[in-house]
Amino acid sequence: MAERESWATRTGFILAAVGSAVGLGNIWRFPYQVGEQGGAAFLFIYLLLIVGVGFPVILVEFVVGRNTERNPVGALKRIGSGAWTKIGWVFVTAGFVILSYYSVVAGWTLRYVLLGLQGNYTAESAPEQFGAVASGLDAVVLHAIFMAAVVAIVALGIERGIELSVKLMVPAIILISIGLAAYAFTLDGAADAYAYYLSPELSTIASEWTTILPAAAAQAFFTLSLGMGVMITYASYLGEDRNLAEDAGIIAVLDTFIAFTAGLIAFPVLFAAGIEPGASGPSLIFVSLAAAFAELPFGGLLGAVFFATVAIAALSSAISIMEVVVSYLIDERGIGRVPATAALGVAMFLVGTPAALDLVFIDLYDGFANSILLMLGGLLLSVFVGWIVPDLALDEISKGIRNVGSLGSAWLWFVRVPVVLALIILVALNAWDYFGFLTGDFADWLSTNL
Ligand code: PHE
Repeated sequence: MAERESWATRTGFILAAVGSAVGLGNIWRFPYQVGEQGGAAFLFIYLLLIVGVGFPVILVEFVVGRNTERNPVGALKRIGSGAWTKIGWVFVTAGFVILSYYSVVAGWTLRYVLLGLQGNYTAESAPEQFGAVASGLDAVVLHAIFMAAVVAIVALGIERGIELSVKLMVPAIILISIGLAAYAFTLDGAADAYAYYLSPELSTIASEWTTILPAAAAQAFFTLSLGMGVMITYASYLGEDRNLAEDAGIIAVLDTFIAFTAGLIAFPVLFAAGIEPGASGPSLIFVSLAAAFAELPFGGLLGAVFFATVAIAALSSAISIMEVVVSYLIDERGIGRVPATAALGVAMFLVGTPAALDLVFIDLYDGFANSILLMLGGLLLSVFVGWIVPDLALDEISKGIRNVGSLGSAWLWFVRVPVVLALIILVALNAWDYFGFLTGDFADWLSTNL
């Protein structure tokens, strides 16, 4: 068997994990979730969940990956037994489903780069424009182009493909985001936008928390790339013992910073154009924001820069999802990296094609994978690590940390009880929501289209 690959540098590992975390979740999904869920109230609960649930679960994945040096399925086979060995399958399935539609949405962003460069954003018919971009042959072609880029990078391997590309992509995302936020600060609507975005109303939290909480939890998991084994896989390529807690902290902070900055860009631009941020749902950046750019001086160019940043962020995440499934095929099935990546690219392209033809499939895939599978995967893995292999976990987490003291067991108990309980409730709430979608919107779609 060929020698297992590894990262060339620690920075490479951290940038790859940050690249995975920062993606459509931060710049597409986060602003519309804030808009839909009551502005600052959502931001507030989201931040609590990143710290209270996201951070400990990154460490859960890290210890499993670094300890086993395996893909998620192989990792669970190595340290687990019986039914526990099946958790890896939840991860691989989630990865497969997520990348199929993720690539479709990423394709739209490519189209919006072109529209901006051509000066073609429109304030009057933005919804129609989005409708034309988001469905039909164009959407299928852009989905194919994006998937091809993912395949090309992952086929080159860890060091020459993923590590090299994130060293370019991640600094670019950070710098351009800061630049755009600074520009947005100069706009007329900035003050109102910050008030809306940054001052939570306790009354909104008190009355809406049953909907805000599950949405914010799903968002926290998705944005940190948790619950589908990305962090297991990336940590499996870590050669030596590093301080995992420190790395997890850097990743969570940078990811949160970029989501927060996306809000600092989107809301001032929307307020400057007098557009209500809660109105457009998932099409917020494509409809409302593009319409707002249409009204601004140099809006086409600024919009093109914005959407190019979203596309780069999506690419640096998509490669991590692909790598989970590829690493499984390499480790467990003995398939070569290049054929494995190419075959998966074709398969995921096909599964995603319905989503490029009709938006209802985005909701169908996204609701299932993002709001159920990810948190279910995170829940099962937390129970496994906290209750079934606690000694291994404690031993692994303390490697590379000097003077770990009782911090290790504090983490373990935190995972065992509060994290597990919170995840049980959150999975149940989200499953209930998804059931509502299947019997509501999706059933309606089926009865009108079949
Ligand atoms: N974290 C990525 C984003 O925010 C998406 C992602 C989810 C990547 C799950 C990998 C695993 O867009």
